[in-house]
Amino acid sequence: MSVGIDEISFYTSNYYFDLRTLAEVQNTDTEKYYQGIGQEKMGMAAPDEDVVTMAANAALPLVERVGTDAVSTLLFATETGIDQSKSAGIYVHRLLNLHENCRVVELKQACYSATAALQMACALVARQPEKKVLVIASDIARYDLDSPGEATQGCGAVAMLVTANPRLVEIEPEVGNYAEDVMDFWRPNYRTTALVDGKYSTKIYLKSLKKAWEHFREASSLAFNDFGHFCYHLPFGRMAQKAHQHLAKVNQAGLDADQVEAQIADTLHYNRTIGNSYTASMYIGLTSLLENCKHNLAGSRIGFFSYGSGCVAEFFSGKVVDGYEKHLHREAHSQMLQARTEVDYARYLELYRYPDPRDGSDNEIEAVTTGRFRLAAIRNHKREYIAV
Ligand code: CAA
Repeated sequence: MSVGIDEISFYTSNYYFDLRTLAEVQNTDTEKYYQGIGQEKMGMAAPDEDVVTMAANAALPLVERVGTDAVSTLLFATETGIDQSKSAGIYVHRLLNLHENCRVVELKQACYSATAALQMACALVARQPEKKVLVIASDIARYDLDSPGEATQGCGAVAMLVTANPRLVEIEPEVGNYAEDVMDFWRPNYRTTALVDGKYSTKIYLKSLKKAWEHFREASSLAFNDFGHFCYHLPFGRMAQKAHQHLAKVNQAGLDADQVEAQIADTLHYNRTIGNSYTASMYIGLTSLLENCKHNLAGSRIGFFSYGSGCVAEFFSGKVVDGYEKHLHREAHSQMLQARTEVDYARYLELYRYPDPRDGSDNEIEAVTTGRFRLAAIRNHKREYIAV
């Protein structure tokens, strides 16, 4: 019996900000962002959107197909938590009308926790193959204005249904891990934006890749050339390109630059216009690969490198299942991205500076999102989510 990803769906805000506009305001060359960072646009959450509403939107098509009673566990990965105690997943549980016997928990380790959730989901299903586990990763990436990180903001959520005999990707049990206590990127409880040592974070990312890969090689008989494609954590597209060049070099793969690029190119399309979605980003990258690769991927092996600052990293592998292309949400994703509205610099600042509803005051929140769920108000310190 195999275990893995049976279905995958993602969601991002209906607003985006083009990095060309940011470059104009900053008097910077647009190509620094479009090419140097590898990003064109970033998703900007509406005032009435957060990790909960995005997560529910991402998961809705999956739950509509299998039925609300089919999900036995909901694992919610995020580093943009909305409560120190209550799991964001509990709100999603209600919005999606999941069964009262469904287990719900939130996981955190920067951008890595979705991978922990996926591995835990696989372990649960391996133990009870009749169960279906819903893994959701949802984040809003925020850095200080006028900081080097500003161009790498974004938002998005991804939902994956993990089952026995999955229809999309079988996740293989061998993994390579690396962990080290470092301060490359973090967000203390009193801050709404992340602190980051940018250049250092990119070095630690590459070091973790090499270490996790070496550990994976001890656990698995697979070598670099056994993989057709690679999905990397995507803080920005250029980071994945650098990482993959690094891995190819470490392995003396004997590929030319175009061949190396071709192994990751299709993972980058969606993130290029969404921006960083932290925990969700690598899995939105996987969706991009499955939905945009021109050749049939059935039987092809994918290498995954998941990185969470602080830091925890994991390299693992998956095999694409025959007939996977029949079970994707390609059309819905494409329509969602095309229907987005661009915001100008003034509106970008407004969205960025929207009063922080975590200051303890009561707030009615204006109805803005075009999504199916919204944060309608915060009253008496309670978040009020509704379906629209
Ligand atoms: N045309 C084309 N390219 C240009 C250019 C132009 N006109 N101007 C500059 N560039 C290139 C630069 O040469 C550089 O390329 P190389 O890296 O290949 O040298 C690239 O554009 C970026 O330029 P800078 O290095 O000057 O960029 P910066 O210092 O302003 O910002 C950064 C880069 C520090 C990574 C910043 O984006 C940042 O802090 N980002 C947030 C942190 C982050 O994402 N870290 C990644 C690892 S941590 C992680 O993965 C977890 C997570 O999700 C955050």
